[in-house]
Amino acid sequence: MTKPIKIDEIYEMKITGLSHAGEGIGRIKNFAVFVANAIPGEEVLVKITEVKKNFGKGQLQEILISSQDRVEASCEWFSNCGGCQLQHIKYPRQIELKRQMVEDALKKIGSLENVQVLPTLGMDNPWRYRNKGVFQVGEGAEGIRLGFYEPGSYDFVPGKESFLFSEKVNDLVHFIEEKLNLHKIKAFDRKTQKGYLRNVMVRESKATGEIMVVFVTNNNEWLLEPVAEEIVSQFPEVVSIYQNINQGKSPHILGRVDRLVRGKAVIQDNLGDFIFNISPQSFFQVNNLQAHVLYAKAFEYAQLTGCETVIDAYCGIGTITLFMAQKAHKAIGIEIVEAAIKDAEENARINGVKNTEFIIGKAEEWLPQWVGEGGRADVIVVDPPRKGCAPETLEAIVEAKPERVVYVSCNPATLARDLKYLVAQGYKVQEVQP
Ligand SMILES: C[S@@+](CC[C@H](N)C(=O)[O-])C[C@H]1O[C@@H](n2cnc3c(N)ncnc32)[C@H](O)[C@@H]1O
Repeated sequence: MTKPIKIDEIYEMKITGLSHAGEGIGRIKNFAVFVANAIPGEEVLVKITEVKKNFGKGQLQEILISSQDRVEASCEWFSNCGGCQLQHIKYPRQIELKRQMVEDALKKIGSLENVQVLPTLGMDNPWRYRNKGVFQVGEGAEGIRLGFYEPGSYDFVPGKESFLFSEKVNDLVHFIEEKLNLHKIKAFDRKTQKGYLRNVMVRESKATGEIMVVFVTNNNEWLLEPVAEEIVSQFPEVVSIYQNINQGKSPHILGRVDRLVRGKAVIQDNLGDFIFNISPQSFFQVNNLQAHVLYAKAFEYAQLTGCETVIDAYCGIGTITLFMAQKAHKAIGIEIVEAAIKDAEENARINGVKNTEFIIGKAEEWLPQWVGEGGRADVIVVDPPRKGCAPETLEAIVEAKPERVVYVSCNPATLARDLKYLVAQGYKVQEVQP
């Protein structure tokens, strides 16, 4: 069927919605077009860059009528680094739009019409909150640089000051760049698959100020000894340095092998009254303040009285498991990453929590087996990655007949898909809190 738009043609359109990836959505002769950096309410000129079966993508050429919600993005990395999609929108409007995205996904994907979606719980100061940065390594006229790839490509964009990281992390990143140049370290090039240093990951504890640096290299040679030495002598906050070896071709950042080259194996952070040990391979929410808000909400939704068995599927380092264990008979965490389960067990121990159990495994394998053997839970919490829960996980949840399911999601689309299934099996969505 012929499409109403053509590649490289320029069209005038009105933006009426926002995609989950933060692109403005408009229609040309009823054909949906996604445009990065355009805001609902704006009228824009767009150059078409992609035409697919049911939608197109366009590049913003000119804003004809600007939204009153538009602001100058503060971060110089914005629009190149792929990290933030909404910095060009006033923060109060950003969080309204996020609420709307969730409601739209529930309606369109989940066919869930009358669900109460509460106003988004935002931050008082939405800056410098990130506790983790993963930098690409690239080379240009100015030598080796840390930065990002353009969204959807391997085109390297050198980084500048970021308002999402602390000033200390920005200083450290610049220092590392300087030292990599001084010691003539070669960047790994994803296009040619040649070179040495692929990524630098920096984790900063918001509670203790401790920093972990992970150098991801393309082979097991260790050429960064002088760089590591200079980092620890200049930055006492850096208490842990690792080499991670990744020789794979996939876009995964970390390979399987970690070598501790300086200091401690883990850094420690806090959420509420709990202390958490975090190792390089473990997932930890990137925004401490909001993670605490999230866990408090999940705890409230679980409505525990002290007698319940709680399953925390996709438990990472056991954060939600420990929150639930405060008022449950027992909380069981399941997680695929072995290092995260080691952290979780240690986290239960250092926090003096005795009513938890942690299992290394895939939720979609362990849960059906456990339920098949007669396992039952009063509350099941799931916090899956963006792809949501596997069908086997959802089927096992239904079979376990928990009174409540608390679904923590980082992707409204898969949340809506999975809720649709649970509702079809007899569950009712009580409330959604973005
Ligand atoms: C969004 S994180 C949530 C972690 C934890 N609940 C938290 O808040 O820190 C998802 C976790 O699921 C784990 N994971 C991914 N696929 C899994 C699977 N099939 N079974 C169990 N865990 C899985 C990941 O390693 C990651 O730790």
